[in-house]
Amino acid sequence: MTRPTNSIHGEWSSRWAFILAATGSAVGLGNIWKFPYIAGENGGGAFVLVYLVCIALIGLPVMMAEILIGRRGRQNPVNTLKSLSSEENASSTWRFLGWIGLLAGFFILSYYSVIAGQAMAYVFRTLSGVFTGVTADGANSIYQSLTGDPERLLAWHTVFMVLTMVVVARGVKSGLEKLVRVVMPALFIMLVILVGYAANTGEYFSQAVDFLFVPDFSKLTQESILIAMGHAFFTLSLGMGAIMVYGSYLSKSSSIATMSVTVSIADTVVALLAGMAIFPLVFANGMSPDAGFSLLFVTLPIAFGHMAGGALFGGIFFILLVFAAWSSAISLIEPAVAWLVENKQISRRRASVTVGFAAWLLGLLTVFSFNIGEGWILFGMTMFGLLDYLTTNIMLPLGGLLIIVFAGWIMAKNSTQEELAIRSPIFYYIWRILVRYVSPIAIIIVFLNKIGLVG
Ligand code: TRP
Repeated sequence: MTRPTNSIHGEWSSRWAFILAATGSAVGLGNIWKFPYIAGENGGGAFVLVYLVCIALIGLPVMMAEILIGRRGRQNPVNTLKSLSSEENASSTWRFLGWIGLLAGFFILSYYSVIAGQAMAYVFRTLSGVFTGVTADGANSIYQSLTGDPERLLAWHTVFMVLTMVVVARGVKSGLEKLVRVVMPALFIMLVILVGYAANTGEYFSQAVDFLFVPDFSKLTQESILIAMGHAFFTLSLGMGAIMVYGSYLSKSSSIATMSVTVSIADTVVALLAGMAIFPLVFANGMSPDAGFSLLFVTLPIAFGHMAGGALFGGIFFILLVFAAWSSAISLIEPAVAWLVENKQISRRRASVTVGFAAWLLGLLTVFSFNIGEGWILFGMTMFGLLDYLTTNIMLPLGGLLIIVFAGWIMAKNSTQEELAIRSPIFYYIWRILVRYVSPIAIIIVFLNKIGLVG
């Protein structure tokens, strides 16, 4: 199987467009909703440090590997891996790695859409002023009145999924690219303002900074190390082919290393800003940092409820959050949609509707996990918890591991060197050592450590 020189789906109009799209994919609920709550649940500082180390030592090299594989193969992940493995005289079984990715993306989208739906519901709640002067208990019960009602959750989940399908159906240039140009900068400014608000809480702000940045290693468990690593993959959109497929729309002249560094830094900064906006409020209101997935939906509304113009400001904040989730969601189904278009010769539109509908159906499990299905427990987790755990902590790191093994051990040195086109040989060698040894060994150790075999 030979590889095409261009993607049939088109190309990003510039390297900026790629950076925005990849950042749009990376920055999402993972940064603003998930990072603060898992940092809170896992004890703060030490967890944050492990997460940062994982971003640098594992995330960055994996991102470069994904983009280079995607750009070289120029097709959806399954076909790309098929072409590249035949070109490198390796087994065509590698294409199954593409399949794991398609599946993981579809699983993640199913619950991602439900949480994004909650953010949409919050746009209207904040704007309506229900949070004015609200207490912690009040904010809690407002959240529960939303999640306790399956019909409402379902309605918002449906709206979000339809929005996602619409953008993906429109294709690379007129869909994906347009959306992210405005949203990313606006979200960033909004977060800075929120951190400024949180900074006014004085001692609570410094308490939050300590909580996030002063590591207390006694709080670190094997489980939290696995969660930190899984989250590094989740937040950078790695391990399932999303960034790979975005790479397949990238022109040959752009530098993969520079773009990967830019996207990783932007993503990390947004997560840390979100933490610094949320935790001062948690402490100032006497709440517990380990409240779990409701953290964002309960703490921020308290802040909005006590700020001048908070209803409007809060409304805008949740709108931006929905947009950030939207630009992430599209990258979750793009690989599967590209696969259908390339292999089943159906239109982009039909492909988007097919994949989106299937993810919507699976999403019902998450909708019910918050209410009537709260008691459906498997391996000690709700259906939502299970889907999240399986994808983030197992499928993504495993996918990422196989991706770097492919880039570091299966692809010839000439191929990766040519594709990365890093001018300085030293940097190329650093990358190669990372993908051949450091990152795979780190991932394997974290896995073994978790199941109790080492450490
Ligand atoms: N990175 C996104 C976030 O942080 C979620 C996401 C989008 C994702 N595409 C992905 C996660 C691909 C894993 C794989 O919200």
